[in-house]
Amino acid sequence: MSAPEVVREIELLRERLGSVRNRQQSIALVPTMGALHAGHAELLRIAREHADVVVASIFVNPLQFDRKEDLDAYPRTLDEDLRVCAANGVDLVFAPTASEFYPSEPLTFVESPVLSRNLCGAFRPGHFRGMATVVLKLFNVVQPHVACFGEKDAQQLAIIRRMVTDFNLAIRIVPVATVREADGLALSSRNKHLSAEERAVAPVLARVLADAHARIAAGETDCAAVRAGATELLQAEESVRVEYFEIVDPDRLTPLEQVTGAALIAGAIWLRRTRLIDNLFWPGTG
Ligand code: PAF
Repeated sequence: MSAPEVVREIELLRERLGSVRNRQQSIALVPTMGALHAGHAELLRIAREHADVVVASIFVNPLQFDRKEDLDAYPRTLDEDLRVCAANGVDLVFAPTASEFYPSEPLTFVESPVLSRNLCGAFRPGHFRGMATVVLKLFNVVQPHVACFGEKDAQQLAIIRRMVTDFNLAIRIVPVATVREADGLALSSRNKHLSAEERAVAPVLARVLADAHARIAAGETDCAAVRAGATELLQAEESVRVEYFEIVDPDRLTPLEQVTGAALIAGAIWLRRTRLIDNLFWPGTG
């Protein structure tokens, strides 16, 4: 387990990766905002399987935070993150400062209006624009052959995939399955904000998603009925505030009335001040 080199400047990173490319080696990128947990470790592990050199970026991207308090409160745990990177075979960590990555106020953005209209996008104005913009910048700086993204952030993944298609980027996007605790709770940097009582309630979202998935598998096609059942189960937990529970087309992320093929079942809840998201994919029967 050797410590990865930490590179803070774009030019130095380009130099290092230029040598990698000259050696005809392939590059995988795992973009992160740090606070790495076992879900990120899985992204890094999968990245290792797909390329000769693994680059992890650690950058808390100010553009994707709608509230300054959230940006300031975001955990910064570089030393621990470097240990996770070392343990998971990362070769290079790109950890620029905000002034290195945004030397001047950005005036150009990636917009994905259709894909960011629903689900989390309806509640987090500007978030996906900031996320897609920073990911495109990271893609341009690193120029990876492969980039890994978690399926837990399904809307993020859909937007990145479509950006790659629409902008003809020569990058293969590898989706990585959600890592869960034994009781089903999807791993997230936000889980550490849960009190013991909230932690005990939190797996309800995964259970309700599994229940909705099972109803669809059993032949229920009426999305309003599935949604109503799910919302009722979530609201039965006094401490849960439901932000959304939706069944959407997996490519366009537009709400479905009937399940006739593949569908994405996705939800977001609040437990006091912690927001949790999760989703399950229904592949369709045909
Ligand atoms: O998923 C995240 O951690 C962030 O949205 C990403 C992809 C690193 C962009 O800042």
